[in-house]
Amino acid sequence: MKALIRSTMYLGLVLLSSQADAACSRFTGSTMKFGGGPAATWRTDYPLEVDTKNAPPWASIDFITEPAKYMDAVLSTVRTDFAVKDDLLVANEKQHNWWISPWMDYTNAGRERRMGLTNERGPKPGDLSPTNRDGYQVWAVGFYNAPGATVFGSIFEDECNPKFPTTVRFPDQTASVKFLFTNASPDEVTYLKGAPEFTAFINPDTAPGQRPEIRPEKREPRTLRLLQVDIAIRDPRADATDWVFGTFIWRGPSKGDRFFDNMVPASLQWGNDPGVYDRGVNQSWVNPVLKGVIFGWNERPFLGFNGRANGPADNLRSSCLSCHSTARSPAGHLRQVDGRFDMDRDYHTEARVREHVDTWFRNIRGNELFLPNEPATTNLDYSLQLDSAIVRLCTACITGELSGPTPEICRGTAFQTTLRGVTKQSRAMCSDNATAARLKATPFSGSRSEFDALTTIELPRQ
Ligand code: HEC
Repeated sequence: MKALIRSTMYLGLVLLSSQADAACSRFTGSTMKFGGGPAATWRTDYPLEVDTKNAPPWASIDFITEPAKYMDAVLSTVRTDFAVKDDLLVANEKQHNWWISPWMDYTNAGRERRMGLTNERGPKPGDLSPTNRDGYQVWAVGFYNAPGATVFGSIFEDECNPKFPTTVRFPDQTASVKFLFTNASPDEVTYLKGAPEFTAFINPDTAPGQRPEIRPEKREPRTLRLLQVDIAIRDPRADATDWVFGTFIWRGPSKGDRFFDNMVPASLQWGNDPGVYDRGVNQSWVNPVLKGVIFGWNERPFLGFNGRANGPADNLRSSCLSCHSTARSPAGHLRQVDGRFDMDRDYHTEARVREHVDTWFRNIRGNELFLPNEPATTNLDYSLQLDSAIVRLCTACITGELSGPTPEICRGTAFQTTLRGVTKQSRAMCSDNATAARLKATPFSGSRSEFDALTTIELPRQ
């Protein structure tokens, strides 16, 4: 059937796979079951092939000399395809050529029901603005365009048992876009005043200024505002990393369509500036008009480390390309920038800064491996959704929420290093696994924290 579709059905630009119903039926742990009302229906009918005859609008713009123009050209391909309907982000009825990753609807950070958002790192006080308090949440949904989605189509042909090629490589012209939302108060984050509002099922607040309680079954409908729109482009001219990453912020007062017309380019990055230990970076562009708006105060002297690109929702010890360059399966002993480098304690110690830069800010090509000396099944070409999708799939297998045979990908090289609390059993995990059997026994006999250690994966953007 697949072969037939491949060769005969040509649907306009893209050749679709037959998998509109691709979700793995052996999976019972979807976080999209919590809450009520209609569930998000983003596309997962991945194309098998795409026509890339026409160059995309950004291809003729130099991202180094005209970063804002390049970013706007990318955004022009996004704005035709998404719309705001009441309090929902939806696909434009006439046109929607964007696909989501499977397997993101699992774990405590898994997709919520209404818009398919995943829970991201919560901003620290002073991250978004000089006055934002602690305890706010950030939720996001990311998409790939048709060239990018072909990679998902080939890996997830069987969603219960995905298969990696020897090397993962997104085609040139791949674009990814990610919308980030927050419940931060516009009184504290004033550039959000008038931003489009959305309702999604998020973690309930405990008390103002306290971190929320994170349990998918307790999620409640709450108002979020559009904070940031991220883009990632595989661009053949980006010879340091193969990718160009950048972000826009929503900045009031509202005008035009109140959505895309308010997006202001914030930063763009085509390299990590390896070996640059001071603020003299030159492979990132940061929009100077946003100084004092999204960076430029004590807690947030810069967006990404020492002036590298990042967005307000991101951690200032990292950068877009730093985190994304670590995409590999399975992870090695380091995952993404973490709390090891403490801004207060380490920033003024030269040796610490050197170690931090040398570890996390390398220029790795898309087909290369982060931590090349540690065993891996494959590189993931900067896709952290692919990375976390596979981690989630294998986690579901460990907890017993994916029944049946263990996916081949999870039996692979040293998978256990990506999972906290799970050690030797991890090569044969699903139905035949001791941990799974223990977790499936009702009620689970271990403590809540033991259960969490097994079923929680790290939130993105810690
Ligand atoms: C601290 C690590 C971190 C930083 C910094 C970071 N990201 Fe990501 N990003 C992630 C993770 C993890 C995911 C996958 C999970 C998700 O989508 O929520 C992701 C997903 C994405 C996606 C969807 C495609 C993909 O690769 O999976 C895009 C696009 C993206 N990020 C762009 C950016 C941009 C642009 C920046 C900088 C402005 C940035 N990211 C900074 C961790 C990071």
